[in-house]
Amino acid sequence: MARLIPLSRLGFRYAPGATFCSYALVGALVLAGQAPQVRSTTEGVYSDGQAGRGQTLYKVQCAACHGVAMEGTSGPPLAGDSFLSNWSAQPLANFVDKIQKTMPFNLPGSLSRSQSTDLAAYVLQAGKFPAGQAELSEAALARVVFPVANVAGSSLSRPEGNLAELMRAIAFPNSNIIFNVQLKDPGAQTKKPPAAAPFDYVEWGSTVYPGWLAIDQAAVAITETAPLLLTPGRRCQNGRPVPVDRPDWKQYVKELAEVGKLARRASQARNYDAFIDISDKLNDACANCHKVYRDKGGTEGSGATRCQPAPEGK
Ligand code: HEC
Ligand code: HEC
Repeated sequence: MARLIPLSRLGFRYAPGATFCSYALVGALVLAGQAPQVRSTTEGVYSDGQAGRGQTLYKVQCAACHGVAMEGTSGPPLAGDSFLSNWSAQPLANFVDKIQKTMPFNLPGSLSRSQSTDLAAYVLQAGKFPAGQAELSEAALARVVFPVANVAGSSLSRPEGNLAELMRAIAFPNSNIIFNVQLKDPGAQTKKPPAAAPFDYVEWGSTVYPGWLAIDQAAVAITETAPLLLTPGRRCQNGRPVPVDRPDWKQYVKELAEVGKLARRASQARNYDAFIDISDKLNDACANCHKVYRDKGGTEGSGATRCQPAPEGK
């Protein structure tokens, strides 16, 4: 198991490019004896002209998902309390990075740095932050921060991801490990040497925890993480709160945890045949909830009515 530790540290901690440069800049100023002055987005940090350019881009490339008034449709709102608490005390550089590197959701990486900065200026304008004389420059981005918002709960209990991210992080890989049992008997796995480069987690991981161990783990993951679907304060991708208080939602979560337990028992018994039935049940546990709360037309990231309770009487 010692092998796991150095590998997990291989993550790239410093993205090259903008973020790195801005740290270097702050460092240089400190060395020169001038403490970098931190400014708030409330202090007129962009110009009206810049926001105007951002607005033109916004209408064409963003409004469909974030709403003409930034109220949110299939994407989350870009104004208001929940938006401001997401960005509480964060430098604008992070915000521009988020736009430039991940938006538009369906075409990331297509915006230039200056377009992304203009868009940030327009978001500030729409959020009623006052304009100033000067444009927001690349050099200023790291030193301008969003105001500190009143965020409830400790940072440990606050959810980090939206629901879709949580699903892709846990439910998706682990259920696929279990679904795979239908196709391949874990007990029949031949002993393999660790996979060589290029690094492939699934291949390499299956040499560290081979055969049934991987199924044991996937079942534990599904069961024990089901309650994360009930964490208060989490939002769906479209900005709506996850309906954690709805009785039907709680019931779907409970059913998921129950199938996880069933999978765990069968896996511990190394009962290959049981997994035909378990795969069915697991598929139903995912699909029953998705039918009501997820699959409401559109492709990934496009469901404006996701996470909305079914109309009364349904
Ligand atoms: C196809 C739909 C779609 C389009 C088009 C789109 N977005 Fe998004 N946006 C999303 C979704 C979904 C999320 C939530 C997931 C995420 O944060 O990556 C999001 C998240 C964001 C966030 C983070 C919000 C927060 O509170 O953390 C920002 C900022 C943003 N978008 C800006 C933009 C801008 C600016 C454009 C136009 C250039 C744009 N988006 C275009 C769907 C879209
Ligand atoms: C209690 C309800 C519920 C259960 C149970 C559930 N999901 Fe989800 N899932 C959702 C909702 C709602 C979304 C949309 C989240 C969003 O848009 O932020 C979602 C999104 C997803 C996504 C992201 C895809 C996309 O289109 O955005 C994947 C992948 C996923 N679920 C897989 C699974 C799997 C696999 C299971 C079963 C092991 C499962 N889910 C169980 C409610 C559920």
